[in-house]
Amino acid sequence: MPEQSRELLDKLKELEQEFNDSLNNLTSDKEVEELRVQYLGRKGKLAEIMDKLPNLPAEERPTFGKTANEIKSRLKDAVEAKQKELEKSVAEQDFSQFDYTLPGRRPWQGSVHPVSQVLDEICSVFEKIGFDIVTGPEIETDFYNFEALNIPQNHPARDMQDTLYVTESLVLRTHTSPLQIRTMLGQTPPVAAIAPGKVYRRDADLTHSPMFHQIEGFLADTGVTMAELRGTLTYFVQSIFSSNTRVRFRPSFFPFTEPSAEVDISCVICNGSGKVNNEPCRVCSQTGWVEILGCGMIDPQVFKAVNYDPEIYSGFAFGLGVERVAMLKYGIDDLRLFFDNDLRFLNQFNRLPAS
Ligand code: DAH
Repeated sequence: MPEQSRELLDKLKELEQEFNDSLNNLTSDKEVEELRVQYLGRKGKLAEIMDKLPNLPAEERPTFGKTANEIKSRLKDAVEAKQKELEKSVAEQDFSQFDYTLPGRRPWQGSVHPVSQVLDEICSVFEKIGFDIVTGPEIETDFYNFEALNIPQNHPARDMQDTLYVTESLVLRTHTSPLQIRTMLGQTPPVAAIAPGKVYRRDADLTHSPMFHQIEGFLADTGVTMAELRGTLTYFVQSIFSSNTRVRFRPSFFPFTEPSAEVDISCVICNGSGKVNNEPCRVCSQTGWVEILGCGMIDPQVFKAVNYDPEIYSGFAFGLGVERVAMLKYGIDDLRLFFDNDLRFLNQFNRLPAS
């Protein structure tokens, strides 16, 4: 074979060898592409050799051209094979890190706060027996929060509640009882409503929070007696706790009711026995009873404030703390858990399946 042709063919073989050696060591698509351009590109190493083709004697060109084309197509095949190999190894690598037998992760999901759950539950218990739900402002006037509820200025009864004042005559409501006045002023009897909402007092410890929730309930009509009060509250307690929960009334005092009572229920933790596993029950301090709410027959002074004739109408009222009901219902002994918003606590009240 003539010298010129031989020289070029050797160069081609060298090029192929060099190319294959380099390709073997590559680990990424990007490197493979760079090598392809370097050898097979329009101005690449192969093209450089091919450019010399016209210099060869005419009779040698076909053989050389044929060999050059064969090498070119082998290089192309090698590039393709390498790309496939890399693709496959990436897939295998990802697959080895992916355990498809693991259960999927649920997205984070919000849920209703336990206090709101209990509040909703109490409201629906009363709605079922015909009570309306009413709401009112959290910043309340002295008149609605105190005066109209038979708690006059400078009366010692004001000491019962540590009030947060906004101005001299505006307060953060200390209870939901003002809704008795607001509702009765706008309606004539019969009236039956419950008023859920936030209330505020200057108080903070294990069992008191500066903000908490109350539900006020009241009913005014002709011929209402304490028997209706007792029946309504027994139905409420047995709906929220259990049908064998017992109720007792203890005489008490509230300025807006006469007579007044505090209501105890048989302890829901020890079922009224005072003992849990032979140990003293911590929730009721062994007494078997826990206090749940205040109530009474609406005081004639309150009826006068809303222009109801106390000679014609009578009624009952009660007020309860929602957090207190929730604590009793779930056996929680620190009120602050409700306000810390620790997800480990709140998730226990998530009614959706655990994630
Ligand atoms: N308002 C009272 C309080 O916050 C609770 C209360 C007691 C409401 C007796 C009533 C009631 O309607 O009759 O302490």
